[in-house]
Amino acid sequence: MDKIIINGGKKLRGEVKISGSKNAALPILFAALLTDEPVTITNVPSLADIDTTLAFLNFIGKTAVKKGGTVKTLASKNYKHIAPYDLVRKMRASVLIMGPLLARLNKVDVSLPGGCAIGARPIDIHLDAFRQLGANIEVESGYVKTAAEKGLFGANINFRFPSVGATENIMLAAVLAKGKTKIINAAKEPEIADMADMLNKMGAKVSGAGTKTITIEGVEKLHGCTHRVIPDRIEAATYLIAAAITKGSVVLKDVVPEHLKAVSGKLKKCGMSIKETKNSVSAKWVKDLKPCDISTEVYPGFPTDVQAQWMALMCILKGKSCVKENVFENRFLHVAELQRLGADLAVDGKFVNIKGVEKLSGAPVMVSDLRAGAALVLAGLAAEGKSTVNRIYHLDRGYESLEKKLKKLGADIKRTRT
Ligand code: UD1
Repeated sequence: MDKIIINGGKKLRGEVKISGSKNAALPILFAALLTDEPVTITNVPSLADIDTTLAFLNFIGKTAVKKGGTVKTLASKNYKHIAPYDLVRKMRASVLIMGPLLARLNKVDVSLPGGCAIGARPIDIHLDAFRQLGANIEVESGYVKTAAEKGLFGANINFRFPSVGATENIMLAAVLAKGKTKIINAAKEPEIADMADMLNKMGAKVSGAGTKTITIEGVEKLHGCTHRVIPDRIEAATYLIAAAITKGSVVLKDVVPEHLKAVSGKLKKCGMSIKETKNSVSAKWVKDLKPCDISTEVYPGFPTDVQAQWMALMCILKGKSCVKENVFENRFLHVAELQRLGADLAVDGKFVNIKGVEKLSGAPVMVSDLRAGAALVLAGLAAEGKSTVNRIYHLDRGYESLEKKLKKLGADIKRTRT
């Protein structure tokens, strides 16, 4: 198993190119199932979750090949309508197979995704919405069996919570449904607007993506297209925090500054110097930083996917701060590992109270999930001495060339295999 070894204490300096967004690329790849014509998707990051999705598409009957950052889907055979446990268990986003296959085949059986380290993560919002589009759903032997014998029909769907995955899944189904669908209380994340752009290039009629009401006029057929995936705002935010935690200076290239406002704004409040151009953001440490509370919210609020990394930074800032997690129920698995490095943290329900310590000290740590892993790497960069980060396969799901990019910025970091 690979591990990352970090000798902390180096200030990061320089430029880093931000990769394409994992969370945009995944639904976009599933969207390719909606047409039999070739689709070309560029700026696709090289990540384990992307490989899992490509394997999934090929299994279903869609030939999909990745070369560098470009994925081409070439042709479709007769799609299979069953998504087995072995594919679904690897990645929760696999439930996004439901929308396109329901739209194309009027039926799909998906192994229940189950919970994951950060919480129960049910799919009730997806299933309620599919029912409203006319699907009949039964859960049997660990599978969600979904069928819409007469096809899907547009409906007004009001989400009880603006779930990102449910918004995407329902859009993927509704683009080929008969009539008009309105998603009320939809998620507003930029990844959803990116997928809508791609769907519209394919001939779909989607409006309002990126706002809380999305309208979809169903069309008969979709065609091929070429689409470039937006930059990864979570990867970008992680490098901004890397600049702050190492008292360094980092320029992010190829980002959408607007997507980073929640994090860059908080860093500014802490005392970082933040500068933006049209497609770059720079973060420079100029003075001792002040701690700052965060509360995770849906977009455009502070992203839950950056909560762990933010906590790592707060661990070494003089004074007290508080992190509140509102989106997931159990997203504090990094706390115990940060404590191993010497952090002073106390969990209290949805809150973590942090007392900044003068320094963290390197130690062996274990990654429990993707963003917890990023937090541990950041803490390791700031800690005195050597940290060994174990179970980094979680990091490989979401950070392209993490140690190479950090090394280029001046970190003393390497990957080893045991
Ligand atoms: C997506 C992101 C993930 C991010 C999350 C929140 C991808 C591939 N993943 O995950 O990185 O952390 O958005 O920004 O894009 N929920 C229900 N019932 C449902 C669906 C969700 O109760 O049917 C709950 C979940 O348990 C969770 C919350 O809603 O507590 C947010 O989930 P959701 O927005 O659906 O996140 P994902 O799409 O799974």
